[in-house]
Amino acid sequence: MFENFPLFPPQASTIAGEVDLLFFFLIAVSAFFTALIYLMVTIFAVRYRRRSSEEIPRQNLGSLQLEIFWSVVPLVIAMVIFGWSASLYFKMVRVPDNAMDIYVVGRQWMWKFQHPEGNREINELHVPTGRPIRLTMTSEDVIHSLYVPAFRVKLDVLPDRYQSLWFQPTKPGTYHLFCAEYCGTQHSGMVGSVIVMEPRDYEAWLAGDASGGSMAARGEKLFNQLGCVTCHVPDGRGRCPTLVGLFGRPVQLITGEQVTANEAYIRESILRPNAKIVSAFQPIMPTYQGQVSEESILQLIAYVKSLAPAPGQTVGTEGNMPGGAVSPGSTGPAPGTAPAAPSQNRSNQ
Ligand code: CUA
Repeated sequence: MFENFPLFPPQASTIAGEVDLLFFFLIAVSAFFTALIYLMVTIFAVRYRRRSSEEIPRQNLGSLQLEIFWSVVPLVIAMVIFGWSASLYFKMVRVPDNAMDIYVVGRQWMWKFQHPEGNREINELHVPTGRPIRLTMTSEDVIHSLYVPAFRVKLDVLPDRYQSLWFQPTKPGTYHLFCAEYCGTQHSGMVGSVIVMEPRDYEAWLAGDASGGSMAARGEKLFNQLGCVTCHVPDGRGRCPTLVGLFGRPVQLITGEQVTANEAYIRESILRPNAKIVSAFQPIMPTYQGQVSEESILQLIAYVKSLAPAPGQTVGTEGNMPGGAVSPGSTGPAPGTAPAAPSQNRSNQ
């Protein structure tokens, strides 16, 4: 609809049309009342002008009906805007369950992307059409903001925490990607492109750069290199909790609290192990702050996610949330063996 109108970015995601509709509604309401006010000012200025210098205007004591009318009408309009935008907002923040994961690290002044399959890119993001994509984002330094106008999505990228943004691209093409938060001298250069491809082309692109293994495989390598494996023993008899089947499940802490083993929890446990001590374990883990980059942490998280329990194997932590975040069809490692890297598992959660 707006391809030939350069003031508007293309509508290239499932949400773009809805965002534009709300935007145009707001413009239309504003335009209508602007026109109405100017029209009334003109009419009243002519109609009630002072006709002679002796004229004394009649006292006006007001009108209750009029007061109610011009209070109720704006209230109804405001509630329509509120309901509409709130429902759209919920749609934009609730990530669909079948979303494909891509991990984003912002830094002064570039965007780094990692696909679970192992592909890594800088200032370029390849995505397929036809399925929702969740970006899990963090920053290595200051606050950035990822903005793709064609998808009508924008979200701040903050240091020391994970933010989730999702979209579903609808049209193959190349679209602008911006940093939308002033982050230093080269902020304006922190730009890139999102390349939307047909699913088949995307698969081919993924396969074309499979060097280095999947994110989970890289994570496993780090897990061994950093010595995590010496305490986090898969069979649960180590000095630290087993990580098999951990992801997405509730964890009982020594304080009596329960937390969910999500990305933020795992990240915190790597960098500040004493922040949350698992019930019945000692605070013996050293911090890995400064030893692992944000990208490495994401790889370690991908590895932990990939550690599905083998059938019949009990899960080391409390709670019995069935399924959790373990993707259906992913095969877990046999007890005691090194887990297979799920490089074939495209729906890798
Ligand atoms: Cu990063 Cu502006």
